[in-house]
Amino acid sequence: MPIVESVIEKYIMTSVTNDKTNLFSPILLGDMALANRIIMAPLTRNRAGEGNVPQDTNVEYYRQRAGAGLIISEGSQISAQGVGYPRTPGIHSEAQVEGWKRVTNAVHDKGGRIFIQLWHTGRISHSSLQPGHVLPVGPSALKAAGQASTYQGMQDFETPHALTLDELPDIVADYANAAQNAKKAGFDGVEIHAANGYLLDQFLRDGTNRRTDSYGGSIVNRMQLLAEVVEKLIAVWGAYRVGVRVSPENSFNDIKDSQPQQTFNAIAKKLSEYPLAYLHVLEGDMMTGERHVDYVALRNCFAGLYMANNGYDLERGNSAVEQNHADMVAYGKLFIANPDLSARFAKNLPLNAPDQATFYGGDEKGYTDYPKYGDA
Ligand code: PHB
Repeated sequence: MPIVESVIEKYIMTSVTNDKTNLFSPILLGDMALANRIIMAPLTRNRAGEGNVPQDTNVEYYRQRAGAGLIISEGSQISAQGVGYPRTPGIHSEAQVEGWKRVTNAVHDKGGRIFIQLWHTGRISHSSLQPGHVLPVGPSALKAAGQASTYQGMQDFETPHALTLDELPDIVADYANAAQNAKKAGFDGVEIHAANGYLLDQFLRDGTNRRTDSYGGSIVNRMQLLAEVVEKLIAVWGAYRVGVRVSPENSFNDIKDSQPQQTFNAIAKKLSEYPLAYLHVLEGDMMTGERHVDYVALRNCFAGLYMANNGYDLERGNSAVEQNHADMVAYGKLFIANPDLSARFAKNLPLNAPDQATFYGGDEKGYTDYPKYGDA
């Protein structure tokens, strides 16, 4: 039986037999069936080829991880302006589309599903990475504390150019163009990166958005740019093919909001108006491990599917799904180290440990050489 039909059959059987829902239960995103709820989180690995084009090693990396219910690709810049790090892939040039086609084909050949994460880094970029070496852009001319990762090593962040009202439509158009390219490249959908201190998050949170126009001030105004991007991308992709990722209290990239619970509850409510594939939430603070936001309350503000992320293991993931605190769980570091994570979870097999030293940049080491269970 073709893989898709067998997944749908399993889905129907689970509902008929009333089996307890857990990480291994299939799930439908609209008309698209996922074989399980173990999701590969978006992971920046800095291993794209010349021109930020996905290359052979990237094809192999994603192929190995096709057992995830859904792979969410690493952040991929929507435009040359969106880039923020060395060797991150893009989805704005022809060559990048061709490179990604090889990735999506490899994942589909293995029966997997893959979304691309659409990324604009905003003020977290650096002029040395920008076309024409101009300043990076942001909602307001506020410099992040810390340093940008550039081809010349770490360099202090710069004060960004505050986007003007007449420049914002170009940003939305770049998202739409990237979404069209994602379709051409054979992805199953797109995830809008509105988390972790990058451009859309810089608009959402009041620590970085000091605008006094219709894109700043109230939370309705601060989420206006995200809402425009969501509407545009649903127009391109249709219902349940666009996901959104947020990180209410992550301080990574020197960002904060004065009222994360209220702000992100409101965002979750507003996003419920759209037929999104899911809301993906990085829970807590990546930097400190602290968690102050009530994520069950946040989840209850959102009408669609909720994907939880950050520090889950098999037991906590299963328990989140069983208790209906999440519909899916995204795993990052565990997928770096365990290409066959879904199979290992299913059989409760031991896991490989991730090697931090090879997370960012480098070659096959720490990228495609983690063994599957039972390999030498
Ligand atoms: C990272 O480079 O550590 C990174 C990139 C993108 C994210 C989060 C972390 O969204």
